[in-house]
Amino acid sequence: MKKISSGIYGLNALLDGGINENSTTVVIGMSGAGKTTFATQFIRRGLEAGQEGIFVSLDENKEQIIKEAIEMGWTEILNFIEEDKLVFIDASGQEFSQFIKKELPDFVSSWKGANARIAVDPLTPVVWSTSDRYEQRDLIGFMLKETRKVGTVLCTLEEHGTVGDLSGNETVIPMYLSDCVIHLRSSFEAGSRLERKLKIIKCRSSAHSELEHPYSLMKGFGLVVQAGDYPLIPKREKVGQFATDLNKIEGQLPSYVFKRLANSLKDLKDRDLSEVNTEELINAILSEHQGD
Ligand SMILES: Nc1ncnc2c1ncn2[C@@H]1O[C@H](COP(=O)(O)OP(=O)(O)O)[C@@H](O)[C@H]1O
Ligand SMILES: [Mg+2]
Repeated sequence: MKKISSGIYGLNALLDGGINENSTTVVIGMSGAGKTTFATQFIRRGLEAGQEGIFVSLDENKEQIIKEAIEMGWTEILNFIEEDKLVFIDASGQEFSQFIKKELPDFVSSWKGANARIAVDPLTPVVWSTSDRYEQRDLIGFMLKETRKVGTVLCTLEEHGTVGDLSGNETVIPMYLSDCVIHLRSSFEAGSRLERKLKIIKCRSSAHSELEHPYSLMKGFGLVVQAGDYPLIPKREKVGQFATDLNKIEGQLPSYVFKRLANSLKDLKDRDLSEVNTEELINAILSEHQGD
C-alpha cells in the first residue's frame, strides 16, 4: 500500500506514514471542528507534490472556501486555480442524485488516468437528499467508487447531536463505506474551555493509533496534531525479541507455518507490540500446531 502525506502536521505518524493512496477517508466533526481546514490542507499537500486537486463543494461556494483558505494562510491557492491544477466542482443547489449519477461520471471520465486528490466538503447534503437508507448507501457508494477512479478521496461529514455518538444514520453509512474514518471531536468538557481531540476510528490496510490526540487550529499551520502517548519511535526491539523467540521454536512448527509467521513479522517491524504478551503468543502458536 503506497502512503501519501495527509498534509496535516503530526497525523502521518499516527497512520503508519500517511493516507493510503487511492483510498477513501471520511473526516467527521461538528461545525467548527476544522473539517474544511483539514480538506484544504489535504488538497494543498497534493498540489505541492505535483498532484491535481479537485474540490467538490455541495454547500459552501467556491469563493467562500478560497477566502477561508487565504485567511488560514494559503495565499498561493489562487496560483493553483489559475494554472488549472486545482478545480472546483460546485454542486450546491443541484439535485444530488442527478449530479452523482450523471455529471460526476462524465467528469471522472474526462480525468481518466489522473492521480488527483479529491475533497468532498461536506458529504452531508448527499445523506440528507434522501431518507431511504438503501438509496443513501447506493448514492454514497457510487460517489466514492467514481471519485476513487481519479485519485485519493477525502469527504467530510457534519456531526450532530451528542458529541462522539457516531451511530446515527447520517454517519454510519459513509463510515461503513469508507476505508479510513477520522473523528474530530471538539467540545466543552469539564469546564468552559474548548477541547479538541482527534481519533482514528478505523483505517483499512494500515496500522494506526488507537488513542485520542489533542489537536489545534493554528493560523498558517492549519490543523496540528499531537502524538501524546503514542510512541513515535517504533519499538523495534520488542519485535526483534519476538522474532528471536520465534526462531527458537522453528523446529517445533510445520515449515510452512514458520515461514508464514516469520514473513509476517518482517511487515510488522515498525509495529508497537507493547499491548501483546509475546511470550503467551509463542506458547499459543506452539499449542496450536502441536502434533501437526
Ligand atoms: N484565520 C483563522 N485563524 C485561526 N483559527 C481559525 C481561522 N479560521 C478558522 N479558524 C478556526 O477554525 C475553525 C473552523 O474551521 P473549519 O475548517 O471551517 O471547520 P468546519 O469545516 O469543521 O466547520 C474555527 O472555529 C476557528 O476555530
Ligand atoms: Mg466546513
